Amino acid sequence: GAPVEVDIGKLAPGEMMTVEWRGKPVWIINRTKEMLDSLKKTEGEVSDPNSDKPMQPEYAKNETRSIKPEILVAVGICTHLGCSPSDKFKTGADSGIAADWPGGFLCPCHGSTFDMAGRVYKSKPAPDNLEIPPHKYLSDAKILIG
Ligand code: FES
Repeated sequence: GAPVEVDIGKLAPGEMMTVEWRGKPVWIINRTKEMLDSLKKTEGEVSDPNSDKPMQPEYAKNETRSIKPEILVAVGICTHLGCSPSDKFKTGADSGIAADWPGGFLCPCHGSTFDMAGRVYKSKPAPDNLEIPPHKYLSDAKILIG
């Protein structure tokens, strides 16, 4: 498939957009400071906090798993058996998960949960963090995926 160019200029903090790349949904999320702060809390609860597993691009090997700290670009497909995790990131009591849930994604198939960097929580069926697709910035507001 051809690379996909995405304009994120209008993506406000706290918002998410989904684009299709190679038939897969790719999520782009402009994370708020609160969401980024939540990654400090979840660090000890996820199984691969620094994305040390080899299939991750170099620029995903950090706490935010991103090139720019606030912008998450991730494939929205569960690394367990390929279901679509809920694309509504939810926090706290609204999540239906736990009152102190710091936000993230829930896969409805077998209950894997991922934090706001797409890092999978420990003891969940999904073996890996959500995939970060190859991408780069063409300008401040333009991303090329693929
Ligand atoms: Fe997501 Fe099994 S496919 S938990």
